[in-house]
Amino acid sequence: MNESRQSHRKDEHLSLGINLWRQNQRLQVGATYDDVRWLPNTFPEMTVSEANVGTTILNQSFNWPFYIEAMTGGSNMTGRINGQLASVAKRTNLAMAVGSQSIALKEPDKAETFSVARKNNSDGFLIANLGANHPIADVREAIDMIDANAIAMHVNVAQELVMSEGDRDFYWLDNLATIIAKSPVPVIIKEVGFGMSPHAFKQLKQLEPAAINVGGANGTNFAMIERRRNRNNTSFNLDSYGLSTVESLLSATFTKNTHPLIATGGISSANDIVTSLMLGANMTSSAGFLLETLMTGGQSALIELIHQWQSDLPRLFTLLGAKNITDLQHKERLYSSELQNFISQQQKNANL
Ligand SMILES: Cc1cc2nc3c(=O)[nH]c(=O)nc-3n(C[C@H](O)[C@H](O)[C@H](O)COP(=O)(O)O)c2cc1C
Repeated sequence: MNESRQSHRKDEHLSLGINLWRQNQRLQVGATYDDVRWLPNTFPEMTVSEANVGTTILNQSFNWPFYIEAMTGGSNMTGRINGQLASVAKRTNLAMAVGSQSIALKEPDKAETFSVARKNNSDGFLIANLGANHPIADVREAIDMIDANAIAMHVNVAQELVMSEGDRDFYWLDNLATIIAKSPVPVIIKEVGFGMSPHAFKQLKQLEPAAINVGGANGTNFAMIERRRNRNNTSFNLDSYGLSTVESLLSATFTKNTHPLIATGGISSANDIVTSLMLGANMTSSAGFLLETLMTGGQSALIELIHQWQSDLPRLFTLLGAKNITDLQHKERLYSSELQNFISQQQKNANL
């Protein structure tokens, strides 16, 4: 298969994304999962086998409250990785999202680097992915390409603006309303790592997405990745821009968001998943950390890691005396002074 400039970009995202995690070069932006402490729960009054860590979202019930988030496809190498991720998803009974399929709409020979995910996991829950400017015809094509169960429309203003070849036109809301009305599968509105403020949740109130993925900062940082692709040859620097996943989830609460929430951004342990669920997420997902595990240790290492999280989750629910996610959301927690400061400022913003 020929490798175009866009394919090359996919490979660069992959290697730079892995390096951020491998070399621990991630920048801390705002409050982290460590800014939320769980209170000790001396008398759980339950057994581990009573913990139901499953969740229902996107018209589907899932045994596990996390999935493999959108990353790859569009080049020979990323196609191979999609195949491996799909095999891991099948072995671990996890849902999986593919990376942006826009390249395969322009270069049809790239479609197989995405459809391999369906080939390797015929019964799995698969999430398609496109940018928020794509028309409904593209959405249908992306869904058909992988026989998707849902589609995420990514909103990535900061990433596009850092990219020298990125988009400069961001009239998205009307298009998204059409996509949500006409899509044959549930639609997720998905940030890619800069988070969402109370204002964004207010704007999303008018839409009826099946879910909002808050995609917060503190994990894979596309401002850094795009600057590095540019050989740092720019003064345009958004490395510290955005709200973290923790802050974005709280922002949803301030605006009395009623849409189901997915938390992505920096999730690298079962503890991070539990904290995200506690803060209102109905589902979580992880991208860069899982990718780095796959690239370093292969499929067996990734399966082992996922099995570890699947074993940790019911024990953590029990630790906190939570029989399910709803219970968890009512558990007491302590916020650090930095997070408390964020909360008091954002509560004011939410009322503006
Ligand atoms: C190599 C790589 C490629 C990605 N490509 C896409 C993409 O095509 N579409 C998308 O919506 N998100 C993409 N993402 C963003 C992730 O889905 C996720 O939102 C982000 O990385 C934050 O999660 P993390 O901190 O767990 O990595 C990509 C992430 C990585 C690491």
